[in-house]
Amino acid sequence: MAVQLSIIMLGACSERLTFRRFLASPTTPPVKLNTKIPQQVVIENGVVSVNLSNPEGYIIQLYTGKHGVLDNKNKETDRGYFDVVWNDPSSKAGMFERYILRRGDSGFYSYIIFNRPPGFPRVVVDQIRIVYKLDENRFHYMAISDNRQRYMPTAQDRSMGQELAYKEAVLLNHPSESQFKGEVDDKYEYSIENKDNKVHGWISNDPSPVGFWLITPSNEFRNAGPVKQDLTSHVGPTTLSMFVSTHYVGKDAEISFAEGETYTKVFGPVFVYLNTVSNKQQFRSLWSDAVGQLEDGLMISLDQKISFHPINGEQWQECYESKMGGKDQPASSAYVGLAMPGYAGSWQTESKGYQFWNQADKEGHFLIKNIVPGVYNLYAWVPGFIGDYKYATKITIKPGDNINLNSIVYNPPRNGPTLWEIGSPDRSAAEFYIPDPNPMFRNRLYSDNGPDKFRQYGLWDRYSELFPDHDLVYTAGVDDYRKNWFFAHVNRKTNNTYVATTWQIQFQLQNIIPGGNYTLQLALASANNARVLVRFNDPNRPYYFSTGLIGEDNAIARHGIHGLYRLYTIVVGCNQLVKGKNVIYLTQSRATDPFEGVMYDYIRLEGPSKY
Ligand SMILES: *[C@@H]1O[C@H](CO)[C@@H](O)[C@H](O)[C@H]1NC(C)=O
Ligand SMILES: *[C@@H]1O[C@H](CO)[C@@H](O)[C@H](O)[C@H]1NC(C)=O
Repeated sequence: MAVQLSIIMLGACSERLTFRRFLASPTTPPVKLNTKIPQQVVIENGVVSVNLSNPEGYIIQLYTGKHGVLDNKNKETDRGYFDVVWNDPSSKAGMFERYILRRGDSGFYSYIIFNRPPGFPRVVVDQIRIVYKLDENRFHYMAISDNRQRYMPTAQDRSMGQELAYKEAVLLNHPSESQFKGEVDDKYEYSIENKDNKVHGWISNDPSPVGFWLITPSNEFRNAGPVKQDLTSHVGPTTLSMFVSTHYVGKDAEISFAEGETYTKVFGPVFVYLNTVSNKQQFRSLWSDAVGQLEDGLMISLDQKISFHPINGEQWQECYESKMGGKDQPASSAYVGLAMPGYAGSWQTESKGYQFWNQADKEGHFLIKNIVPGVYNLYAWVPGFIGDYKYATKITIKPGDNINLNSIVYNPPRNGPTLWEIGSPDRSAAEFYIPDPNPMFRNRLYSDNGPDKFRQYGLWDRYSELFPDHDLVYTAGVDDYRKNWFFAHVNRKTNNTYVATTWQIQFQLQNIIPGGNYTLQLALASANNARVLVRFNDPNRPYYFSTGLIGEDNAIARHGIHGLYRLYTIVVGCNQLVKGKNVIYLTQSRATDPFEGVMYDYIRLEGPSKY
């Protein structure tokens, strides 16, 4: 009865990472170091110049041409810097940021070596990032993807605005330009999943077009796996490269170090790319040019000794190749990755090690390449199927190894035939009903029929308007989850207080199998300070199942449409159900603020296995 998915490993391949675009041509000028300016080091290659504070190493200005791109009004410590947030600032030793400027490049690389030698104290790290603050008088156009680009309001517009439900969300009621009036600005509306967070930045059109981009071709150093979301660029103008954060996950994604624990990890490289075009009308082409750098194979790698190898990374050569075979259903578009050893799904909160992920094609073929040597588990999940896969034995990657795993079969959880289902198992609530935003709280970048509608501010409160005096009732097999299932199970706002809500799933059973067990598969895409109670056919009975208090991914407030994935397989004795009409009551019982709640990913009722 179970659906089987096979992934057959065919063998390993070996591939070197090369720079294809930026290899220096002999005609380009050499890189020069200029130490004549007091307390500065200037590195220049005739294309760009990087001014660093000496000895602190802050980036205090960047030039391509005459005009610096960073904001001179900011303190030198607040223009281009690397930032670690942890609970014991005295232990900040052991962090090195390295910059690489090569001949002919229109930009420079930076990466961070995080090193804890023996004897370091116990600390918790919850954020590691690189920050750039651009000249606010010149950079007004932000681009984070092909269809997420816009003129942005200013920091001043924000400070004149009205703070909404939390400080990051501001209603622009007195912007300097009327085009922004009535919009909401919130940096979390510009989040991106790690796997897609490769190029973003800003364009200035004054006096001539200049682009500033952070280009990050690989994401194995970012925490918590490929679909974790994080900040990108936002009003400032600010551009971030987030390496570690708890955003959209919660404290489980913090990195804890025990006293004396040694550790080394390399974050990056990130390429800071500056580009220009002479025709002002063509300023948007700077975005596609920046994306083109990525596609042309901008990539560097670092060996175990963490010195820089510009042409190839000797240690990063393992890859996996897999191919579907046999009669089982192909693991179409499966996400397959290597991450630190743990339980199935543990990569979602894993922040210490590297994670190497790729997505299989329609036939289940996948390739994972350029893996840092180490000991990993192989994890996977398959869109369209519930649950998490983990390959039973650990995988040790050594330099030069060829590892050949034979057949891999994933049996997604299932106890019986589907009686009904709501949604699609894809770890996101995006397929459910997303309301139009309150016209007072729009971001005009996101249209009401576009794929990013869920990024609008305040959608949680639309529930109270749609359901002012009763809660959502869904009839399985009749209603359409795209229209009738609200994307988030939130509290109802009543007279400025929030009250708990109970949703109903109504369904018919033609008969009850005596002695048979039914199964409710309840998959969540997000949870924040929530507790879901499940009851069958009587809302006043003690609950049959409780998730317990779960979640702090804050994805409702941060427009995330998903946070952490959770799957509950609830065995339902046949005495809970009746022939004819049945009702499942889902209560989210925590009700003190608008952001306590869950997003469902998928719900399925299964009949007894012997039907
Ligand atoms: C909300 O306030 C109004 C006016 O005071 C009152 O009539 C109504 O009963 C209140 N509703 C709830 C659910 O408390
Ligand atoms: C039904 O589930 C209960 C509790 O898990 C278990 O004890 C019982 O054996 C199951 N019955 C069947 C027929 O599988």
